[in-house]
Amino acid sequence: MRCLVDLLESSIAKKISVALAGILLVGFLAVHLAGNLFLLEGPQAFNGYAEHLANNPLLPAAEILLAALFLWHIAAALVTRAQNRKARPEGYQSQRAKGGRTWGSRSMTATALLLLAFLIVHLKSFRFASDRSDLYALVMKDFQNKYYVGFYVLAMGALALHLSHGIQSAFQTFGVNHPRYTPWIKRTSVVVAVLLAAGFAFLPVWALVAGGAR
Ligand code: HEM
Repeated sequence: MRCLVDLLESSIAKKISVALAGILLVGFLAVHLAGNLFLLEGPQAFNGYAEHLANNPLLPAAEILLAALFLWHIAAALVTRAQNRKARPEGYQSQRAKGGRTWGSRSMTATALLLLAFLIVHLKSFRFASDRSDLYALVMKDFQNKYYVGFYVLAMGALALHLSHGIQSAFQTFGVNHPRYTPWIKRTSVVVAVLLAAGFAFLPVWALVAGGAR
């Protein structure tokens, strides 16, 4: 516990840990999206995949690690933001706002809040649903509701913005800053962010429009 408090007090360690947790969470999202694509194959494939996952003895440990990563990423990012605001003089703040900032960087807090709301709704609907015997039917039922689907698409817009800045910012925090590689890292961050968000947003829209796998 003491070392967690020490970590929260050291600003550079905190920044690095936020970035590291963020990159690991991007890894989770890629695996989660790949698993969700089984929805396109129909109930047998998706429920079979979910059952396979549920029977994995490593799942409880992986879920605890995942929850810890999300909580750490949010808590340490909030503390860093509060400290930066306190330390930064007004003039610097207004100067920064003028140039060099992207939509992604400007909206980090707003997109984070929307994603947190999404995560709470999402976990309640699927991970903590009372009857999870047919996950495919559960997901498809929710995705027949156009407001629910609209909320998912909106949240995935926030995910694209959050990751487009978050991934490149993590590389800067790790010290990867080079005139030749930085522009490439920035472009790749945007591409990865858009691909992940579009993949996640596609599934509910497909379920609503096409009615699921036939
Ligand atoms: C089309 C979009 C998505 C679908 C259909 C979907 C579906 C699901 C389902 C069915 C579960 C329960 C899995 C199980 O317990 O076996 C789940 C869990 C979860 N989802 Fe999603 N998901 C989507 C997008 C997302 C996004 C964008 C995030 C993060 C920003 C996310 C984060 C999570 C987390 C953290 C869990 C809990 C994992 C665990 O504890 O095992 N999901 N999702």
